[in-house]
Amino acid sequence: MKSIDITGGNTLCGEVSIQGSKNAALPLLAASILIRGVSVIHNCPRITDIFSMIKILESIGCKVSFIGHCLEIDAKDICNTVLPEEYVKVMRSSIIFIGAMLAREKEVSIHYPGGCVIGDRPIDMHLEALQRLGVEFTEEGETIGASVRELVGSEIFLPFPSVGATQNIVLAAVLAKGTTVIKGAAKEPEVTEVCRFLQKAGARIQGIGTETLEIEGVAALQETEFTVVPDRIVAGTYLLAGAATRGAVLLENAPVWQMDSLLLMLRNLGAKLHIEGDKIFLNGEEADKSIPFMETRVYPGFPTDLQSPLMAVLARADGISIIRETIFEDRFRVVKELNRMGARIFQKENQALIYGVKRLGGMDVEAEELRGGAALVIAGLLAEGRTKIAGLSYIERGYEDIVRDLRCLGAKIEKSE
Ligand code: EPZ
Repeated sequence: MKSIDITGGNTLCGEVSIQGSKNAALPLLAASILIRGVSVIHNCPRITDIFSMIKILESIGCKVSFIGHCLEIDAKDICNTVLPEEYVKVMRSSIIFIGAMLAREKEVSIHYPGGCVIGDRPIDMHLEALQRLGVEFTEEGETIGASVRELVGSEIFLPFPSVGATQNIVLAAVLAKGTTVIKGAAKEPEVTEVCRFLQKAGARIQGIGTETLEIEGVAALQETEFTVVPDRIVAGTYLLAGAATRGAVLLENAPVWQMDSLLLMLRNLGAKLHIEGDKIFLNGEEADKSIPFMETRVYPGFPTDLQSPLMAVLARADGISIIRETIFEDRFRVVKELNRMGARIFQKENQALIYGVKRLGGMDVEAEELRGGAALVIAGLLAEGRTKIAGLSYIERGYEDIVRDLRCLGAKIEKSE
């Protein structure tokens, strides 16, 4: 199993540029199916989830080229509506192909997407919302069949602002007959980005960035080019690593406008920030404060994807911190590995109580999922001695090259087989 070796105990110091956003890019690949021509996506991150989505696109008949960070998708001819089980099972985000395939081909067959260790991640809201647009579902074992004679706009209320469900409905609604109104829509930047992509291709969407989206169906979309925004979670991970090691870190191209909750958290930790345009400079010399209480929230609240990386920072804070996870039901899996490194974290239901300790010790640990893996990297950077993190493949799902990036910040880190 590929792993990462870190010699910790140094302060990070340096500058790094931020890759394109995984969660903004993935829905664009599904959206490209709606265009009977070529979509060009710039600044697309070279991460395993993107390569898996490319396999799905090619399996339905798209021609794809991915040179550097420029992804070209020719969706002129779709010849298959059965999505390949091997990629769908391992990547929950493939569920957003349902909306796009129904809009394009009026039918799709997809293996029930795997949950994962952070929760069973049902898709009830996706299915109920699509039924409101006229979609009929069949289930055979682990396979879901979806079909619709004609997608007809409707009013949909989401009981929870699900990012994926909002994206799925938008993808189904842009070519539907009539108007669709989504109330209780997610406002995450990754929803805004896919709406902007679709608008550029000719879709009619109002209320972008709010909890009420109004989509007026159009007959067709046009070929378009689009640039993926930098990844706010990757940017946040590296700033938290700078704070954890009391370092001095400069991000060259961060999506500052999407990062308010994290920037406030960094200041509450005691970090000093200087922001100029899309550059963020962090001085983490005094970033040793504990956080009496923090809970993850939907955007613009503190993102659940940075909860584990923050926990690694708080493991060595001066005092007691409490984190409440409100989005996923099992997102504290990394606690046991952090405690093996000397942290003192106690979990009770969806809350973690973190008694800051003076030092963590390097250890052989194992990542079980993407953001827990990022948290172990941060713990390895601040721990004394050597840490070996197995499960690099989880981390590579979202970080294009975390070893390259942290080396830019002066970390003693390398990949190993
Ligand atoms: C997206 O997942 C992101 N993934 C996640 O990032 C992110 O943590 C999450 O949004 C929340 O911001 C991608 O964009 C590819 P949700 P998604 O639907 O769409 C429940 C990462 O690390 N729910 O907003 O799956 C669900 O179980 C990943 O980059 C239902 O109950 O998130 C969860 O508890 C992890 N029924 C909560 O809602 C449904 O039909 C939030 O899920 C749908 C969701």
